[in-house]
Amino acid sequence: MRIPDPALVVLVGPSGAGKSTWAAARYRREEVVSSDALRGVVGSGPHDLDATEEAFTLLERIVDARLARGLTTVVDTLGLDAERRSRWLLAARGAGLPAVLVLMDTPDAECRRRNSSRDRPVPASALAGQLRRHRELVRAAEAEGWDLVHRVEPDTGRVADSAAERTVHRTTPERRTSQGLRVVLQVSRFPWGEDPAGWMAAIARAADEAGFAGLALMDHLIQIPQVDRAWEPIPEPWVTLGLVAGLGTGLSLGTLVTPVTFRPAGITAKAAATLDALTGGRAFVGVGAGWWAREHAAYGLDLPPARERLDALAAAIETMRALWAPGTKAYDGQRVSLPETTCYPDRPDASR
Ligand code: CTP
Ligand code: MG
Repeated sequence: MRIPDPALVVLVGPSGAGKSTWAAARYRREEVVSSDALRGVVGSGPHDLDATEEAFTLLERIVDARLARGLTTVVDTLGLDAERRSRWLLAARGAGLPAVLVLMDTPDAECRRRNSSRDRPVPASALAGQLRRHRELVRAAEAEGWDLVHRVEPDTGRVADSAAERTVHRTTPERRTSQGLRVVLQVSRFPWGEDPAGWMAAIARAADEAGFAGLALMDHLIQIPQVDRAWEPIPEPWVTLGLVAGLGTGLSLGTLVTPVTFRPAGITAKAAATLDALTGGRAFVGVGAGWWAREHAAYGLDLPPARERLDALAAAIETMRALWAPGTKAYDGQRVSLPETTCYPDRPDASR
């Protein structure tokens, strides 16, 4: 079936149905107006749901502007919102362009399979809702008044997965690269499904096997929008590093980075000293001033102005160094005074 051109083309299908793939194979990039792409323009990326409202405001303006010029416009959203569909249909009518609805007939199981193999799957319950609404729309679409309802046959042929050959680059026994660098794997996402401990252990063992010098965990209380969605797991890193410490790898373990606003510095010093003892001297601490207001507010933590936080960072470093230093004597430093510095377990090699 030929789709007229120019036309308004509205894509409909659940996540993973192949809408964007279908559009990219048939239309120029400028002809496709995608809510995901616009979230990336006004938000931190295509998955930044906080940017949805503004992305759709822009999408509507772009659709109107293109249609008014008689240009082919492919609307790449889930397409499941009846109000939006009728708006687009009316806009096409107003512009004198044919209005085409493109229904993806991808089987539910294939959508689920593609979704779960994606980097950022939508939650199974959300996908189930999309699949249900899609089925309802398939039944009702003809009555909506489209000039053409185009069904896209299931295409189970995969877009080639470029499963590039994996090469494991061996490093020296000191885990340095040929330039002498020690490279640490920073883990910021934890898509661990039903088996958090098993997932974490597998990541650590693979990093160890690949020759990484260490493994670092991000320290946030809510997953940050730059990385993933707020409801994805983001574990307390010192607890999680305790699990990794028990695996017997040769990895250095620490955080990148621990905000000094989360825990009093002495408590971080204690956690790191404990980890150091449990790993035979392979702990490290990345520290920072903290920045994300939302997680501080949600967990009842203060987030003072930047100048104060940076002062607190300097004081925290001083406190940790004082507690880790050999002996238990009183400490009287530049920003910090402590009546004693008793911190056991001691570091296995306190001279480092
Ligand atoms: N895909 C595939 N074979 C196809 C079509 C798509 O393997 N014939 C894969 C794509 O490479 C992608 C995934 O399935 O990894 C989802 O396809 P996409 O076109 O992005 O689906 P959309 O319907 O656009 O999903 P969303 O609503 O999440 O944007
Ligand atoms: Mg898409």
